Amino acid sequence: MLATRTLAEEILELKKERRAILLAHHYQEPEIQELADAIGDSLELARKAREFQGDVIAFCGVWFMAETAKVLNPGRTVVVPDREAGCSLVESCTADQVRAYRRQYPDHVIVSYINTSVEVKAESDILCTSRNAVQVVNSIPPERTILFLPDRNLGSYVKKQTGRENFKIWQGTCIVHATFAARRLAGARAEHPEAKIAAHPECPEEVLAMADFIGSTSAIIEYCVRTDAPEFIVMTESGVAHSLNKRAPGKRFYFIPNEQCNCSECPYMKMNTLEKLRDCLRDLKPAVEIPPEIMRRALVPLERMLAVS
Ligand code: 13P
Ligand code: SF4
Repeated sequence: MLATRTLAEEILELKKERRAILLAHHYQEPEIQELADAIGDSLELARKAREFQGDVIAFCGVWFMAETAKVLNPGRTVVVPDREAGCSLVESCTADQVRAYRRQYPDHVIVSYINTSVEVKAESDILCTSRNAVQVVNSIPPERTILFLPDRNLGSYVKKQTGRENFKIWQGTCIVHATFAARRLAGARAEHPEAKIAAHPECPEEVLAMADFIGSTSAIIEYCVRTDAPEFIVMTESGVAHSLNKRAPGKRFYFIPNEQCNCSECPYMKMNTLEKLRDCLRDLKPAVEIPPEIMRRALVPLERMLAVS
C-alpha cells in the first residue's frame, strides 16, 4: 500500500521540481513558516527575492509583497497561495489619486510605504518599509516637501523622528495595528508591570508613546531576543509568536487583542494555507502578472530604497 504523503512533503517535493524558493512573512501560520526558505519582514523578503537564483518564487504573505518580488524578478514566476490576500493600506490609496496629487504638487517628493499597489509604486519617487522609513526620509533634502503615503500612523511616527516640517501624510490605516487601543495596553501593563513593550509603527500614537521599542516585525523579534527582560507585550500581529518562542524559549510574550476583531491577526495574511500553497506550486497560479511598463517604473523607487537602506 502506498504511504500517504503529507501536505508538507508534497510541498517540499514540488518546491524541488519547480526550482522554487518559498518566502514567508512573520505573520504566516507556523506550519507555513516551518517550510519557508526565508522568513522576514517586508524589507528582508524584498532583499531575499532579489538574491534568488531559481525559477519560481512562492510568496506567502500578501499580494503587494508578491508584486514587489515580481518587480525585482521580471523573468521569474511568482505565485501566491491566495490572490485575495490583500491589505487595507493598499486599498486606501489608488494610482489615480496619486497622479492627481502629483498634478497639483509637481515639486513634492512622494514617499510610498511598500504596502501599496505596484501602480502606486510606479507613481512614487522612493519607497520605504517600516524598517527603513526614517532613513529613507532622512535621505531627502530637508527643503523638499514630502507626501508620505498611505499609513497615517507610520507617517506621524516618521515625521516626529525626522523632525520634518514640510511633511504631508495620507490617511490610510492598517486594520490590525490601528485598532490596538492604548486603554487595553495600559491594562496589560498593569497586569505585567515587568514586561517591556515592543510596538510596530503602524500602531496609533498613544500606543507608540507607551512603547519601550518601536520597529518592524523582524526588528521587534530581534529586540525581544536580545533584551534582558523575562516578558514582553508585543503590539503587532501574533504570527511573530512563532519566531519569538523558538528564538527566546524562556521568555513570555503577551499579545493584546485589538478593538476590531478582538484578536491580533491579519485576516489577509491568514488566508494562506498549506493546501493553497501546495496548489499554487503545482498549478503555478495564481501568478503575479504586471504590465512591463508599470514594472519598469515601479523598479526605480524600489531600487532607490534598496540603495538607501
Ligand atoms: P513589516 O515591514 O514590519 O514586515 O510590516 C509589514 C506589514 O504589513 C505590517 O503590518
Ligand atoms: Fe496590511 Fe495590516 Fe495586514 Fe500588514 S497587518 S498586511 S498592514 S492589513
